[in-house]
Parts: sequence; structure tokens; C-alpha cells
Amino acid sequence: MTRHRVIFQPSGRRGEVEDGTNLLDAARNLGVDIESICGGKGTCGKCKVRVEEGFFEKDSMDSRMGHLSPLTGQEMKFLKPSDGPAMRLACAAQVHGDVKIFVPEKSRAGKQIVRKAAKELSIAVEPAVRKYFVELAKPSLNEPITGDFERLREALRRQAGVDALSMDFPVLRDLQDAIRKGNWGVTVTLWKGREIIKVEPGFVEAAYGLAVDVGTTTVVGYLTDLATGKVVNTGSMMNPQVPYGEDVMSRITYAMTNEGGVQRMQKAIIDGLNEIIANVTKDLRINGGASGGEAIVDLTIVFNTAMHHIFLGFNPEHIGRSPFIPAIQHGIGIKARDLGIKINPGSYIYVLPIEAGFVGADNVGVLIAEEPYNMDENVLIIDIGTNGELLLGNRTRVCSTSCATGPAFEGAQIKMGMRAAPGAIEKVRIDPATKEPLYKVIGKEDWHTRVEKIDAKGICGSGIIDAIAEMYKAGIIDKSGKFDMTVKNRRVRRDHDGKPEYVLAWAGETSIGTDITINQGDVRALQLAKAALYAGAKLMMQKMGMEKLDKVILAGAFGSYIDKEAAMTLGMFPDCEIDKVYAVGNAAGDGARMALLNTSKRDEAEQRARWVEFVEIAVEPNFEREFMQAMHLPHMKDRFPNLKKLLEKAASPVVING
Ligand code: FES
Repeated sequence: MTRHRVIFQPSGRRGEVEDGTNLLDAARNLGVDIESICGGKGTCGKCKVRVEEGFFEKDSMDSRMGHLSPLTGQEMKFLKPSDGPAMRLACAAQVHGDVKIFVPEKSRAGKQIVRKAAKELSIAVEPAVRKYFVELAKPSLNEPITGDFERLREALRRQAGVDALSMDFPVLRDLQDAIRKGNWGVTVTLWKGREIIKVEPGFVEAAYGLAVDVGTTTVVGYLTDLATGKVVNTGSMMNPQVPYGEDVMSRITYAMTNEGGVQRMQKAIIDGLNEIIANVTKDLRINGGASGGEAIVDLTIVFNTAMHHIFLGFNPEHIGRSPFIPAIQHGIGIKARDLGIKINPGSYIYVLPIEAGFVGADNVGVLIAEEPYNMDENVLIIDIGTNGELLLGNRTRVCSTSCATGPAFEGAQIKMGMRAAPGAIEKVRIDPATKEPLYKVIGKEDWHTRVEKIDAKGICGSGIIDAIAEMYKAGIIDKSGKFDMTVKNRRVRRDHDGKPEYVLAWAGETSIGTDITINQGDVRALQLAKAALYAGAKLMMQKMGMEKLDKVILAGAFGSYIDKEAAMTLGMFPDCEIDKVYAVGNAAGDGARMALLNTSKRDEAEQRARWVEFVEIAVEPNFEREFMQAMHLPHMKDRFPNLKKLLEKAASPVVING
């Protein structure tokens, strides 16, 4: 029987299915949850999925609509023109060739948990956009003629002490009506004390801003009250660009190899952002003022350099090849209407500055949120996402670099890996004596032995880090990451292809009907990712003549969920006192929020982005050697006195260089 390859996005699950299998069954076989209320009878219309057409170099897959059975009449009943031509019902479409399928948020049964909650920030609220209510003197024939703009300007000068120099043109067009509708009282929205970007009749108090963090995998927007600085709503989604490539390089390749690729990806992210805007503002009720997205009068945004370029519609080709030159490094303000972003059309989208080809505005966000340039200690800040970005230094000097970690930390490229969603194993402990595991699944309150229905589905990033660190501590894998097949235990076995694996969950404990295992390939994928981070940190330390780290800050939502001891056991970063290793959550998003709330933070971003020294790690002469040594757990040679103390306390069987 002929078999075809199917890849599901955004989960990244992939596998082969027999010719004629429908997409719903293919998804089930591969552990991808698609909403199917009617059970696949074609009567609920819930199982909509989209075919991603094109040649995807990274997967060497040519995915075509024509690789599925023809559209049926039943499907047509549910598919709307707004769904686009590539949408199908998963239960009706049969696979007759290789396909890449995107499962939209609405069709996902186990919704992704985007772990990017907003934390309290302590920052003075001095936003770039402010509102002023002013009353204009009614004109009369008995006085010299003064235009409405001039009257408004005069009222602002007298009543608010600000001198507005200009006005957004469409606002000017509607000015006379607004003034008369408000009976000579209007609320003026002023950008940086200079430009009038909105005039509303009467008194409208509320002003909202949106701080956006576009990650390679997730997008999050924080709707913020510009008067109080409080986040009033948060919206998030998977980055709709994921179907074009899971990581930065594959999206750049997609842009270079597909005509109209940049525009397609730009549209995807702008549509996604508009969806977030619609969601976070749908319940806003503003007295007399604009509703929905139009109530947002300021927006700041961070992303890595490739996402930055694609968002602006720039060709990312030059940042993808040496010497990795970006189109612009400075921050930019662009009118929302010019990008088709559905907030107040005359408002500016402030794109934070970027550092270098692979260190983007998101890293500048981390920089201004954590301020290593105000610290005396040697601090290493690791922002772990699909790409790893590092900042190292203190008040005298800070270096930055980017490491190609790949998406292994997020559960992709791992055989049973999945994103952090219900059913994902997120925590693991292994008894070194019996080799029996204890694990915790997202959505269940307790360790698996204490819940009735475990329903494990796969392993997410934090679970993989835990599992591999525990396998090492239990002696299941050795320092080089190789399985020790002399371990006599039924969980340590060989798969159908003879490759070693460890059974974390037996089929009966899962909802997918197969054992959940970690195999040699998974261990290797994690080693490659962690070695990239470690070698990056080490080479930067060497460059700065730094002997040891005083502090390690784990930024990124992912950093908040990994076990720091497990991360150090694997050697994700050089040795440090464990109490000085801590997570700060989504620091890139915090930076975007700070820039939204305080204009001096924007100035700080512009200055510090230029002050930080970018180090291109991959071209360092010692890179290969450092990388190879860092492949070992925790490292081939480096000493880990703090980790050694920790593990000795836990009586672990492994020996660490002290
Ligand atoms: S599962 Fe109900 S229509 Fe496909």
C-alpha cells in the first residue's frame, strides 16, 4: 500500500499514513487533536483544516491541494468563501500525496496554553500618547475668522499647556464635525505632545495601548490602560506564520524560495494581530468614545529580526546570509493604517530597535526590562524560545549573541514531543534505584500515580528537559548522552528499528494508545540545543575575560516552566549558585510594555541597542571545539562545583566535575 507523509502544524506532529486515509484519522494516529463533534460524519463542520501549499525545503515536502481527494458537496455546505480556497474538512479529505496541514486555533480540541501572563511592572506611567479634553470658544461673526484647527490648537495651548504642531490628515478632514458634535468640547489624542492623532466629540477618558510580543511560535498582546499602566486584557495565539516554517531560518528560506512568500507571511501575522486586537477589545465599553480596536491609540511591538522584517514586508534574505545585515537597526514609527493594523488608524506602531541580524527587538525588550547595564554582578540572561538569545555582562560592558537552538526546547523535533497543552507531560522524576518514573501531565492536578485518568499525549519542552536530566541522574544515559543498555529494566529497551529508548508512560496511561518514549534521537536533539546555548555563553565569557557567573536569568515564558536544577544538570548554562538562577517570565513582552508606558524607555532602548556589543558566535575559531565539549552532560571538561554539591545532597549516581 502506498504511504504518504503528513505534517500537522502548529504542533509539528508528522508521520506517514496509508493512501486514502482521511485527515481526521491521520491526525488521531499522530496524536493531533482536531475538534470533531459529529465524530467524523461530516455534519458538524468543526474539523476545518487548511492545506499549506508550496515546496517546504526544510521538510523536503511538496504539499499540494491536489494531493487530497476532491472537495465534496458535504464540505461545501460548511466552507465559507472567507475560509479561503485551501480549507477542507479533515474528516472528508483523503490523503493521496504528501501534505502539510495547518489546524486553525478554532479547530483544535486541546487548546494550546500560551504561557505568557503579564506580571506587575514597576515603572512610571509616562506614555507617548495622552488624551486631553478641551473646550473651544464658539466662533461668531463679530470676531476675526479663525479656523477650527487653529482654535483647537489655541485651546490645547491654554487649557492643557501643550503645543500641537500637526494633525493626522484624516483627523483634520473630520475635525469640524467632531467639534460640533461635541458641542465645542472635544477629547484630543496627542502623540508625543506634537501630533493630533484623534479627535473625539465630548469627554472620553479611557485611552488604551497594546504591547505585542511576536515570538517565532506564539504571539501575545497586552491591552493596557494608558492612564494606570495596568494590563486589562491579554490575547494570544500561535504565530500564524508557523506553517511557513517552524524556525527563523526556514521562514527566511520560504521567503526566498516562494514567490510572494514575504507578503503571504506578512499578511498572516497582520491578520493574526488584528484577530488578537478584536478579541482583547471586544468587551471594551468606552463612554462615548471609539469601540473595538479603534480604542487602541498606541502600539509597541517586539520580535526577532526575521519576524521584524517580514512584519514590515522587507525581504529577509540579507539577514539570512553572511554578514547578516538588517535593513534598519533603529526603532521605527509607522502609521497603523499603512500596515493595515486595525487600531486607531492615525496612531503609530512603534517597532523597537534591533541589535543585529539575529538579535532582534525582542532582545532589546529583554535588555530594557532586565537592565543588565545597571548591575554590578556578572549576569547571563538566557531568552529561550525557538531561538536562544543571550546577554552577558554588567554595568561596564554587555555582549549579546544568538544561538541556533532549534525548537527542541519547545517539544518540536522530539518524537513524542508536543507543545504545552493539556495532556503534555511537563514534569518528570525517575527513581535512580528502580528506574520507575513519576510524571505530571498538564491539566491534571497531581503526579500520574495519584490521578484516575492520566490521558498523557506527549511531552512538552519542560518535560523533556526534566526527563533527560532524570535519565542521566538515574544512569539510564551516560555523560555522552548514550543509553546504557546494560541497565536491566523493562523500560529501557530497543524500538522496532533497534534504537534505544526509555518508556516514560505505558500505552494504558495515555490517550493515544501507544507508549510514550524518549529515544536516542530525542536525547541528541536536546544535547544539540543545549550545547548551542552553553557554547554561546562560554565564548562570550571568554571574550569578556569572565571566570564565573554571579547570576543567571531565565527569560522567556519557557524559562519560567523549566526546572532550573534539571537545566543545570544538563549543562544548558555554566555553573552558578542555584539560588542565583531565576526566571523572570516573558521579559521581551515586559520590554514592549515598558516602551508602551514610558517614552524614556524608548530612548533607553534606542541607546542601549547601539551600546550592546553583538558577538557572532558561530564564526569564533573555538566554536566547534566548545560546541563538541558542551554536547556532554553537563560538559566534557568544565567544572560544576555548585551542581556537584546539589547532586551530592540528592545522592545521585552520576559524578560531576567539581
Ligand atoms: S468531524 Fe464533524 S464535520 Fe468533520
